[in-house]
Amino acid sequence: MKMIPRSVAVAVMSALMTAPVLATPDLANGKAIDQQKCYSCHAKKTGFGNGDMIYTRSDGKVKSLADLKKMISLCNTELRLDLFPEDEVDVATFLNKQFYKFKP
Ligand code: HEC
Repeated sequence: MKMIPRSVAVAVMSALMTAPVLATPDLANGKAIDQQKCYSCHAKKTGFGNGDMIYTRSDGKVKSLADLKKMISLCNTELRLDLFPEDEVDVATFLNKQFYKFKP
């Protein structure tokens, strides 16, 4: 068996150790963002005074997880809400869990 040069092994190991821990979506953050930045506008838009209804309306535009992410970044960039990509993921995860329930 050929030995791996020690320097390579050390480089690989330190790369593994400094790799960021895979971020798991933060549902509480997603919910807070929805309540702070999204809810009141959606409440106005639907005319029901309830910002959750836009996610559950029967003629909703979102038919898949991909649609959901697209819609969130559309609302985010169009309206300049200044969400970070991680925030978009958090909101998407929260909305999917709470309302849409698409399979990942
Ligand atoms: C200034 C108003 C406004 C804000 C703020 C806003 N949205 Fe929206 N959003 C809309 C409007 C209007 C629609 C409906 C668009 C349509 O029907 O084409 C919509 C639709 C959506 C939909 C699609 C709902 C469906 O199932 O059809 C999603 C998802 C969504 N917004 C996510 C968000 C998120 C997440 C935020 C906050 C980060 C946000 N929006 C902030 C105005 C807003």
